[in-house]
Amino acid sequence: MQKDFGKIGFILAALGSSIGLGHIWRFPTIAGMNGGSAFVILFLGISLFVGASMLIAEMLIGQYGRKNVPDSFKEITQNEKTPWRFMGITLFGGPFILTFYCAVLGWVLYYIVFVSFHLPSDFQQSKIIFDDFSSHTNMIFYQILCFIIILAMTAYSVIYGVKSIERLNYVLMPMLFVIFFGLLFYAMTMSSFKMSVEFMFKPDFSKITSNTIVDAMGQVFFSLSLGAGSILTYASHMNKKQNLLTSAIWIVIPGIIISIVAGLMIFTFVFAYADKSAVKEGPSLIFVVLPVMFGKLGLFGSILCALFMVGLLFAGISSTVSLLEPCIKYLYDKTKYSRTTITYAVVFGIFIVGIFVILSMNTNYKDMLTFFDKKLFDWIEWMSANMILTWGSFFCSLFVGYFIPKATLQSWTSSYLKSSLAFHFWYYSLRILAPSMVVLIFINRITHLYE
Ligand code: TRP
Repeated sequence: MQKDFGKIGFILAALGSSIGLGHIWRFPTIAGMNGGSAFVILFLGISLFVGASMLIAEMLIGQYGRKNVPDSFKEITQNEKTPWRFMGITLFGGPFILTFYCAVLGWVLYYIVFVSFHLPSDFQQSKIIFDDFSSHTNMIFYQILCFIIILAMTAYSVIYGVKSIERLNYVLMPMLFVIFFGLLFYAMTMSSFKMSVEFMFKPDFSKITSNTIVDAMGQVFFSLSLGAGSILTYASHMNKKQNLLTSAIWIVIPGIIISIVAGLMIFTFVFAYADKSAVKEGPSLIFVVLPVMFGKLGLFGSILCALFMVGLLFAGISSTVSLLEPCIKYLYDKTKYSRTTITYAVVFGIFIVGIFVILSMNTNYKDMLTFFDKKLFDWIEWMSANMILTWGSFFCSLFVGYFIPKATLQSWTSSYLKSSLAFHFWYYSLRILAPSMVVLIFINRITHLYE
């Protein structure tokens, strides 16, 4: 029923999956909480070396499996009963992440409609707008309404299938890039830009703690869409001749650029309009800082704010589609229901859990929905980057690194990993670097569970 991707179509769809809240919202949030440069430098290194290798591994499984997640493993191993079929468990990852991802996109929608044209004049006022919206009981209606609209947009795009995702991305990605670079140039004219560059890049290795390393790794998985079957599922629609190295580079580099630009501009505005400590603001960071900046520009600022948020919204929708698709594809292959019915059913499940995620931020309900000092929202966000995606990628790397014979890998990748050095670098990063990274995350997260 679904057509295959063209060469560029695959890259655009994978880029659409990768670029989203992860770069523009989560990256500045986590970089700020980790004190900047040490985190940023680790993020860059891990993305380029280990992230890209893992991306190629996940794409390869899709490219040669050509099916939904568990069936791709069965196809490659040529064994119906292979234990690798339990990788199907990663199919829960997408819907799980969507429960908070769509809630955050709901905030973006709220900001487009209700905040863009009533921008706050200073940081304190902006904080009040955000806190009111996210935690005031009267506002629950709006939060849930926005959440439902986002879920409906996601369901609609998923039902339309791969081609519509491709078409959507052709228009929206360039628009986001234009707005983004415009904002960067504006930030560059401000005196706090220099502080922002220092905050992000001036190496201060004393700041590297095990938490920073682990957060950087989690962010790499999240932003490259690794470990939840999104990339694998998209790759199952690609041609066997597709060059995975070029594809990986086309996904990793723009992602890095967008994250860095987002960080540079957000921190420039934070240093210009707020106290330095505001960098540690957390998930509300961009929602508090950006409107203050746009507010300085009058009506033009309002229009820009709305356009920026619209860009972010659509970048987010192409990510939500990729989070939902693996699970829908699997259920469609295995049950007798239509794609439409399946999509509505899964989205309904996400809606129910999502309501609790949203309530966990509300003053009246948060006590009920806080466990071991972490709100449900924070738990789900934490679990996704630090547990689900990491283990998903861990097993993909082991599968490609240890299970598929080396000679087979060499023949599969021979058209692009031409030199033996390139091949071996990739091969050993899957065998050694990637798995040890995940084990490190796990040990660290378990031992620091209650921090
Ligand atoms: N990478 C997306 C972002 O940065 C989120 C995302 C989409 C994702 N698909 C994924 C994260 C699969 C992990 C796994 O916003």
